[in-house]
Amino acid sequence: MFEASKQSGDGGIYAELLQNRAFQQVVPNTAAALYAWAPINSASINVITDPIPLSNALPNSLKLTIPSGTSGNVGFGNEGYWGINVNSSWTYEASFYYKFPGASSFSGNLIIMLQSSTGTVYASASVHVSGSTTTWTQVLVSLSPTSSPASTANNFTVTVDGASASGETIHFAMFSLFPPTFKGRANGLRMDLAQTLYDMKPSFFRLPGGNNLEGQSFSSRWQWNATVGNLIDRPGRMGDWEYINTDGLGLLEYMYLCEDMEMQPIMAVWAGYSLDEYSIPEDELAPYIQQAIDQINFVIGDPAASEPAALRASLGHPEPFPLQYVEIGNEDFFASESYIYRWRYFAGNLSAVFPHLKLIATSYPFNPVLDPIPKHYDNHVYQTPGWFAENSFYYDSFERNGTYYFEGEYAAVSTNTSDVFGDGGLVYPDMQGSSGEAAFMTGLERNSDIVFAASYAPLLMNVAQYQWTPNLVSFDASQVYPSTSFYTQQLFSVNRGTEYLPSTLPTVNGTLYWSVTRDKSTVIIKIANTGMAAEQMIFELPSISVYSTGTATVLSGSATSSNSPETPNAVMPVTSQIKIGESFSYTAPAYSVNVLRVKVQ
Ligand code: AHR
Repeated sequence: MFEASKQSGDGGIYAELLQNRAFQQVVPNTAAALYAWAPINSASINVITDPIPLSNALPNSLKLTIPSGTSGNVGFGNEGYWGINVNSSWTYEASFYYKFPGASSFSGNLIIMLQSSTGTVYASASVHVSGSTTTWTQVLVSLSPTSSPASTANNFTVTVDGASASGETIHFAMFSLFPPTFKGRANGLRMDLAQTLYDMKPSFFRLPGGNNLEGQSFSSRWQWNATVGNLIDRPGRMGDWEYINTDGLGLLEYMYLCEDMEMQPIMAVWAGYSLDEYSIPEDELAPYIQQAIDQINFVIGDPAASEPAALRASLGHPEPFPLQYVEIGNEDFFASESYIYRWRYFAGNLSAVFPHLKLIATSYPFNPVLDPIPKHYDNHVYQTPGWFAENSFYYDSFERNGTYYFEGEYAAVSTNTSDVFGDGGLVYPDMQGSSGEAAFMTGLERNSDIVFAASYAPLLMNVAQYQWTPNLVSFDASQVYPSTSFYTQQLFSVNRGTEYLPSTLPTVNGTLYWSVTRDKSTVIIKIANTGMAAEQMIFELPSISVYSTGTATVLSGSATSSNSPETPNAVMPVTSQIKIGESFSYTAPAYSVNVLRVKVQ
């Protein structure tokens, strides 16, 4: 489950290294508008509303003034997203636009560098500019660092010789600095983070939120059409999580992400509700339904028949993406009264236009009663480790009536049973929580006839700037910290069976939970021990002929052990060979997630 929060997109999986690269959505002539930027030496910088902006979407530019009588190198620098990872095995592609607001006789070089915060230069390029350039002109340079500093306290800088540029003013807009990206995709993903997610072998990607779909207000809702096309035509928006989204990671980039990681999208459309509790009145929904239809057509439409699909084709992807599921809103149990009519109009119209799509409702299942009757619901739960273990049988009692469930957000977030969002919240997932989640997940496997998908949430967190904990994977400017819950998800994901085998059921209020599945000639037994003591179990596989050895992959640690920047590898899965027979015993360590793979004939 992905949404732009905790700098998961900008400053995270979206590989752009410069923060506030285009001064989107800032208030000009304020110090705040310059976040991540700083002048160098005696230069003066300011964000202005440009009289002739680079584009309608980007009205602001950076005005550099070199005071008269200046000497030495002057200019400005960007500190990146709490650091810039400088790596000598990479070539960085840097770009920006510049112009002189009035023609001047200046002729000289702009020096573009990657350097440490104390001035050690790692990479440098120079571009000749002339004061006669009074229309926006793009500069593109490659930067190849000569060394890889351990520290990420580095800056991207643009400077000019102060003596020759003394008294000049230059405007700049839309900067960018990209390292190589995952699978080489232009405007693509940070390699190590994308690879970490890919290694989890995910099947789907829920986008674009979460709260970040809905908007803190109507006007700041996520709108697909503002996130596609040339980067200079994307205005960005104030996201729901207290920071500005560049929307460089837009709808097409999400689809490429799915394509490059072999996932299918579960895509949400805005459904007429924003988090300030505003619901669009029933008789004013039409334009938003059309916007949702256009969004879906952008993803799957026929370029010959649909304008949004033609736009997708013009951007390089004529083939439709493999979209099957569309979610109508997010957590509409917060506005279930208006969801009655919002669902009716959205689901009614979308299913008329796209009869093959599976539409997912986001209110509580069957409450309120919706028409048309939803066939798919998205359930969310943030709870204690104990809740997850106790609810491992949650879906067992659900009626088999043609309704399917998506566990679209779940995580053990706290051990505070009286207020899971109060004191005692986890910053990083720990083994107590992850083993509880695993217990719950054995129940999802057992009920996979009705639970069609499940995703831990939230996914990514930049340890320098976050608004919600815990998250599946944490990271900083150069390192990735997969959590105990990440390894739990990975163990379940890479060890999926195609068939659920009946077994003795775990005790409802016990500490041991398991599920048994089969994938061709492998029986896969998943065990969660949510208790503080190791526990022995006896398995009997009476009618299956098994080989004498199998493997056990075990993730275990103390209740509070977790992977963090200080202890990144505190808990890692370990695989060993085990003896198997028609009857065999296995001891699951305290607070553990175990996967046994048994070859059968
Ligand atoms: O995952 C964090 C938030 O939790 C999501 O944005 C929202 O859907 C849920 O309330």
